[in-house]
Amino acid sequence: MAEKRTIIEPFRIKMTESIKMTTEAEREKILKDAHYNLFLVPAEDCCIDLLTDSGTGAMSDKQWAALMLGDESYAYSKSWFKFESVVREITGMKHIFPTHQGRAAESILVQVAVKQGDVIPNNCHFDTTRANIEFAGAKAIDCVADEGLNPGNMLPFKGDVDIDKLKKCIGKNSNKIPFGMITVTNNTGGGQPVSMKNIKAVKTLLQKNDIPLIIDACRFAENVYFIHEREDEYKNKSIIEIAQEMFSYADGVIMSCKKDGIANIGGFFACNNNKLAENFKNILILREGFPTYGGLAGRDLEAISVGLKEALEYDYQRYRHATMEYLGSRLEKIGIPFVKPVGGHAVFLDAKAFLPHIEPLTYPGIGLINALYINGSIRSVEIGTVMFGRFNEYGNEQPAPVELVRLAFPRRVYTQSHFDYLIEVIEEVWRMKEKITGYKIIKQPKFLRHFSCHFEPLK
Ligand code: F0G
Repeated sequence: MAEKRTIIEPFRIKMTESIKMTTEAEREKILKDAHYNLFLVPAEDCCIDLLTDSGTGAMSDKQWAALMLGDESYAYSKSWFKFESVVREITGMKHIFPTHQGRAAESILVQVAVKQGDVIPNNCHFDTTRANIEFAGAKAIDCVADEGLNPGNMLPFKGDVDIDKLKKCIGKNSNKIPFGMITVTNNTGGGQPVSMKNIKAVKTLLQKNDIPLIIDACRFAENVYFIHEREDEYKNKSIIEIAQEMFSYADGVIMSCKKDGIANIGGFFACNNNKLAENFKNILILREGFPTYGGLAGRDLEAISVGLKEALEYDYQRYRHATMEYLGSRLEKIGIPFVKPVGGHAVFLDAKAFLPHIEPLTYPGIGLINALYINGSIRSVEIGTVMFGRFNEYGNEQPAPVELVRLAFPRRVYTQSHFDYLIEVIEEVWRMKEKITGYKIIKQPKFLRHFSCHFEPLK
């Protein structure tokens, strides 16, 4: 029997959450009241919320059932042992510490392992990782290959580290690199995967220089599926086997379980080094809690233990990637500019190419996300000049290198008809793109301005 062409959601729905429908006139008012900043719009007023894939996934019946098994004992609860055994099975790490989310693990790791003046290379640092490193007076260096940042380049592993760049970074900063990192998938670079070949090459280079490798594993299962599909040697291996091999090259793992843990909250740090583990544990107790719950309830540990295994199911990954591919192929047919190939958790529209008449300093990304909201109640996020918010030494605002709009997909939440609706909205906005205007900022805080600044549309 031939394999079916249609890849279906490998689940059915037994609980629903209603979506509020609003009219275009109502959305105009909602957006105006939120100072044209979608972060300030109530979630209820967004029909399809693609702001992030973090903590927004739908838990399975098995996860909900596991919640009821949560053992809320303070120390060495049954839920902890379950969590530890799943994380160890996947990562092979000796020491495992839960945290309330990814950035909590990052902040403790940086506190115990990074000094002022240190340098941490990565393919691309996620914002919170970068912020934690810079807060410690260290430098976060992106070493992703240049091809990875070109939106039109159809390459299979655009998250790969450029080995020459990494070599140069190590050469220039000997004794200043407490660890190197790889982020899988590379969120900041478009959710693009890193190949096993590249992970091995990074490991070999770091090891030669006595530098441990930490994997930021938020979307490890999506990355593993890409390896399964795109690297010939891995075609016949199971998803979990590939994950185990990937982590075998790491000395430590840092993870936000709000992504491929398919949980609404949680994270962990895991490592093999006894001294690092001891130091991490001491601060964990201060900041998060006893080392067997680290800021989480027993029931959260249960939900994560089940979610991590579900993320490694082949049928689930196949469906998840098929939805991204489906959206990408439909956008391609219409002629919409977006980052190619599509990422594992998100599709990034190229706002600069979409709205060439809007200057970077009048924020084409904001023009596009607000148009998608007004037209179809879609919430997405600008990744461009507003988010990066750079100013030169004279206080003049500098445009970001890219102006993207991220459509990030919560796991197991939206169906194909939601995707069809989304495509219809994007197409309508594309047809009226000349009418979209830029924006100016009328109020902004000093840091992380995108979350709270106020905009006004330009006439
Ligand atoms: N690392 C990566 C690669 C991430 O994408 C995130 C979060 C974190 C670390 C931090 O984890 O949120 O649990 O503290 N990314 C979310 C996003 C917020 O929307 O991409 P956290």
